[in-house]
Amino acid sequence: MTLPAPSNDWFLPDEDAVLQMRRVRVRRGQTDILGPLDWTLRAGERWIVMGPNGAGKSTLLQIAATRLHPTGGEVAILEEVLGAVDVFELRPRIGLSSAQLAAQVPHEEKVQDAVVTAAYGVTGTWRESYEDEDRMRALGLVSSWGLSRLAHRRFGTLSEGERKRVLIARSLMTDPELLLLDEPAAGLDLAGREALVAQLSELARDEDAPALVLVTHHLEEVPPGFTHALLLRDGHAVAAGPIEQTLTEGHLSAAFDTPLRVTRTGGRYTAVAQ
Ligand SMILES: Nc1ncnc2c1ncn2[C@@H]1O[C@H](COP(=O)(O)OP(=O)(O)O)[C@@H](O)[C@H]1O
Ligand SMILES: [Mg+2]
Repeated sequence: MTLPAPSNDWFLPDEDAVLQMRRVRVRRGQTDILGPLDWTLRAGERWIVMGPNGAGKSTLLQIAATRLHPTGGEVAILEEVLGAVDVFELRPRIGLSSAQLAAQVPHEEKVQDAVVTAAYGVTGTWRESYEDEDRMRALGLVSSWGLSRLAHRRFGTLSEGERKRVLIARSLMTDPELLLLDEPAAGLDLAGREALVAQLSELARDEDAPALVLVTHHLEEVPPGFTHALLLRDGHAVAAGPIEQTLTEGHLSAAFDTPLRVTRTGGRYTAVAQ
């Protein structure tokens, strides 16, 4: 008897795809909170995922981070098909920063330790010592994210903006090929947000930086240099593609279910109700 081939056998992701989802669905209770969704992120692309609260942005990112397995559909990440790969081998190749992860960093952890522990995919210094090379890399990241003077401070004593920068430095520790940032500017004051937007813009323009996905629901937080956008509403894609054709008045008004006036000046976007 010939059994139907498991879907993983015939899902051949595109060669240049860093992340590819096909008919992905996540079901909770009686409803699909995400999908069915098709999405392909190719090497070198920098994506904004935008949509109102509850649109499914974090759910989508959790799948991309191999933290959540979809109810249906196929997912390929870094040429590996989810379900046919050991996610613990895949995870060091994916950087993740999210509120959920921030909550797992012990308050007494020192900043430099919170960064270096990412090399082992753990939060909390449970090992006695780390390789010198890891220490050096962590210190380099701490410095490039403007955290040097805080390297010995306890995570719990940091401001929200400082914590966000620690988490991003941490997510880069394993030199990932895919970097996922879930609302990194949430809770920051204006100066903190602007500093972060500038740094993310620099990262987006760095050719050696990993493929990037930045989740936000504020148009003002879109850093110049991002190339693509996916607009979500109720778990569905309202629009997806090159950023200038996606973050338009029409698409954004549809995604947020509000007539919006959108302006773009010097690579920065703003939106107000019409
Ligand atoms: N475990 C769950 N059970 C039921 N509903 C859930 C569960 N997790 C998330 N949801 C719902 O799914 C929707 C999408 O959530 P989420 O991905 O966190 O949205 P976003 O990040 O865009 O704000 C929300 O309406 C949320 O309430
Ligand atoms: Mg969210």
